[in-house]
Amino acid sequence: MALVAVVAVATDGVIGLNNAMPWHLPEDLRRFKALTQGHPVLMGRKTYESILAQLGKPLPGRPHWVITRQPDWAAAAEHAAQVRPAASLEAAMAEAEQSHPGRDLMLVGGAEIYGRALASDLVDRVELTLVHAEPPGDAFFPLDSLRDPQRWQWEAETPGEGCTFWTVRRRR
Ligand SMILES: NC(=O)c1ccc[n+]([C@@H]2O[C@H](COP(=O)([O-])OP(=O)(O)OC[C@H]3O[C@@H](n4cnc5c(N)ncnc54)[C@H](OP(=O)(O)O)[C@@H]3O)[C@@H](O)[C@H]2O)c1
Repeated sequence: MALVAVVAVATDGVIGLNNAMPWHLPEDLRRFKALTQGHPVLMGRKTYESILAQLGKPLPGRPHWVITRQPDWAAAAEHAAQVRPAASLEAAMAEAEQSHPGRDLMLVGGAEIYGRALASDLVDRVELTLVHAEPPGDAFFPLDSLRDPQRWQWEAETPGEGCTFWTVRRRR
């Protein structure tokens, strides 16, 4: 099992504004779907709420673990079979690994959860979309932390429209 962060980040480190994505990149959405389909997805409570606000439902075909400090947080009844709360990233990882052994776990945001996961060395790989823009934002990804060549290897660059897709692997 690997923990894989999937993120689209602007060159200034912005990933969000007002609990939404600051851009619309269909190519990136297709890549996100291809990378995460069929995998357990782990996310912070605010990212879950931004998905619900956008889609009106959780991401189809992906069991969700929503990380929250609220002990009584529960998904709406119609989503309860697909969406489980977890008290920490580690608890979400343990539960997802137990119910989907051997599957890569996809960490899909947001800023607080990415920052926590990268700071604690839990992330094995980052599937990164580098957006060629500098939009205003209020949620950030610690891009600089991936720049250390002793710890991270940038590989497999693919050009996209308005962005570049990268796989960034942690050196073990
Ligand atoms: N560009 C991208 O690829 C991308 C991807 C995902 C999200 N985003 C953007 O990121 C932004 C959301 O990020 P965010 O940082 O505001 O929120 P977030 O990381 O999605 O969620 C934060 C919440 O997670 C819970 N949490 C955080 N750390 C925790 C811990 N150690 N233990 C238990 N629970 C914990 C807390 O929930 P409670 O308050 O319920 O306790 C906290 O309020 C939005 O703008 C969204 O659009 C961008």
